[in-house]
This record gives sequence, C-alpha cells and structure tokens, in this order.
Amino acid sequence: MIQTHQQREFVPLPVQVAGIYDWLYSNKDIYSFLDNDLFVNFITLGFHKKLVDSLLKEIKPNSHVLQLGCTFGLQMENVAYQIDEDGTYTIIDNNKKQIKRCQKKYEFLFNNMKFKFADAANFKIEQKFDCVICYNLLHELPPLSKVNVVCNTLNSLNSGGKAIFIDYHNPAKYHPLRYFMRMFNRLYQPFAEKLWERSIDSYAQNVNVADYTWTKTTFGLGMYQKVVATKRNLLNL
Ligand SMILES: C[S@@+](CC[C@H](N)C(=O)[O-])C[C@H]1O[C@@H](n2cnc3c(N)ncnc32)[C@H](O)[C@@H]1O
Repeated sequence: MIQTHQQREFVPLPVQVAGIYDWLYSNKDIYSFLDNDLFVNFITLGFHKKLVDSLLKEIKPNSHVLQLGCTFGLQMENVAYQIDEDGTYTIIDNNKKQIKRCQKKYEFLFNNMKFKFADAANFKIEQKFDCVICYNLLHELPPLSKVNVVCNTLNSLNSGGKAIFIDYHNPAKYHPLRYFMRMFNRLYQPFAEKLWERSIDSYAQNVNVADYTWTKTTFGLGMYQKVVATKRNLLNL
C-alpha cells in the first residue's frame, strides 16, 4: 500500500544535511548582522524588492496568512502591513533562535503576527488559510522535504486560497551568472539546483492537482520564479 506523506515516518536528516544552513540561522552574531534588506538584496542580485512586491500583489487586505520559514529583511513586515489589522499572520519555523529573533523584532509592531515552532515538512494542519507563503525556503530542502512542504502548503488552503512560492529557477542559457550560480549551488546549496530541473507543481504529490490553477512568473532572466497555486472554489462547483 502506498503511504501518504502524512503517514510516512519522519526520517531524520543526516547531520551534514541538517548543518548546511546552521551557521546562518543558529549563530546570533551572524544572523543579527545579516537581518537587513541590504544583505537580502545582495543575495537576490538586487531582485528582493521586485520579488516582495510581486508577493504582495497576491495578498488581499484582511487575509489570514501562513508563512513557512522566517526571512531576513523586511519581507515579513511588508506582508504584515499588507494584511492590515484585520488579517492574521502566522509564521512557522523549525529553528527556535529564528523565532526568537523575529518575535523580538516585531513584538511591539504587529499584534496579529504569531510565531510557532514547527517543521514545514511535517506539521499538523489545524486551520486553513487564505494565503500560504513559501519564500525562498524550497531551495534549502532535500527532495522529500520539498514534496512534503509543497503538499502541506496546498493542504493548508481555504477554497479560493493561494499558495505562493518564491524561489530560484533555471536562469536563461545566456544569463551572465548562470555558470557562477551553478558552481555556487554545487558548493554551498546542494538542493537548489533541483529547482532548475523540476517545476514546483511537480512536487505536488498526494494532492489532487486538478483542484488548483497554477501560474508561473519569472524574474531576472529566469533566475527567480513566483509560482502561485490557486485552490478552486469547490463550494461554487
Ligand atoms: C525561509 S528561508 C529564507 C532565508 C532567505 N535567506 C531569505 O531571507 O530570503 C530560511 C528560514 O526557514 C527556516 N526553515 C528551514 N527549513 C525549515 C523547515 N523544514 N520548517 C520550518 N522552517 C524551516 C530556517 O530556520 C530559516 O529561519
């Protein structure tokens, strides 16, 4: 019998896999220094604002939003302003230090922002949301976690809700940084190149893909992508 992703036993990551991004997310001196838009702009080759603006276009005021993984810079606060006081914003992260950093950063700014310690690849879906954001998370995850995160994202949506994935993509053949990125990924981001080879909707296993409409927009000669899966309003069918 084929097991669904929820039934599968959790497989602990090998130490070397778990450690790839630890230096970035678990060292207070490093993440405090890097938590600014200047750094995020640098690592997104100047596309940070464009990506965040494109994300905000998908989110209506007063929405109930879930985000998988905290981010650096102003991405989260831009979403919090976008949803306004009547929306809610829940962010889950599997690193307690990141949760603490963000709670401290936003505790006096937004009272509708809530942080939870949970694994995006393996969390209990207790509530459905109008939008689920997966911002620059997929490229950090090994293939099975990518499948689980995409499935959890889709399964957490209300009818008519949107899953918004923003991440790396396969740059155009003539992109001046294509081969640099390839080398960088092979050295430091071993799970990023899979997003060059496979489309994000192909990770949607164990869900009825026909229940969703998929759109994809690319940025920076194909370096980045925004993929939006909108859940059909099944109540109106
Ligand atoms: C969403 S990514 C974004 C980082 C990126 N550099 C940025 O700011 O655009 C990083 C965050 O995701 C979290 N994370 C990684 N794997 C996760 C998982 N399986 N479940 C929940 N959070 C995860 C990390 O702890 C970190 O806080």
